[in-house]
Amino acid sequence: MTTQNPGLFIAFEGGDGAGKSTQAAELAGALESRGLTVLRTREPGGTPIGEKLRSLVLDHGHGHIDARTEALIFAASRAAHASQVIRPALDRGEVVLTDRYIDSSVAYQGAGRDLGTEAVRDLNEWATSGLQPDLTVLLDVDPELGRLRRTAGDAAEDRLESEADEFHARIRTAFLDLAAALPEQYLVLPARLPVEELAARILARVESLLSLPRRVNRVTRVTA
Ligand code: TYD
Repeated sequence: MTTQNPGLFIAFEGGDGAGKSTQAAELAGALESRGLTVLRTREPGGTPIGEKLRSLVLDHGHGHIDARTEALIFAASRAAHASQVIRPALDRGEVVLTDRYIDSSVAYQGAGRDLGTEAVRDLNEWATSGLQPDLTVLLDVDPELGRLRRTAGDAAEDRLESEADEFHARIRTAFLDLAAALPEQYLVLPARLPVEELAARILARVESLLSLPRRVNRVTRVTA
């Protein structure tokens, strides 16, 4: 079954320290100044239950969390986010910008934690009833640059961020593989480019999407 909704759904993905939030904020500002209604949101989180799940899975101090438990917590947060926040906004015709979505689970839990990218993708397609972004902006970051950026100042690293550089290197490869498999759905940009240049390139791609007739073919495979 396919469903249709008139909004535009854009996910920002990339390793820790890639600058996703900065670029989501830049794009939101540019689109709002053109009169569009933009909803900015993030994962894990985005709903009251999602924010609780976020602190469960990211904060240190909950003891060991095994990989499958971790994957299920991210998927549970995403299920609430997709049904309670993203789909309703798209149905209202809004532009939804999310900081992370399914690809983060495929990369971090599927590749990083070695659960298998296909298994994690299937779990998340089920969790979201197949809701896919119209475009994923992948900010490709070298793990070393990512670490330097996120430890600048006194910022403490969360459970995932504090994994070894080798873990982050696997994640980087997984993101790039996802983009290479479906190039028309992705905009891949090197995260080291200046903020303004990244913002301009992202806006140009989004403007070309907005000029198309409203998406009638968003992949929304209902898996259950
Ligand atoms: P995020 O909020 O993007 O952290 P930051 O804003 O500090 O970059 O993501 C928090 C962490 O959660 C990040 O290390 C990536 C990880 N994560 C997963 O492992 N799987 C997922 O499905 C998601 C959404 C995030």
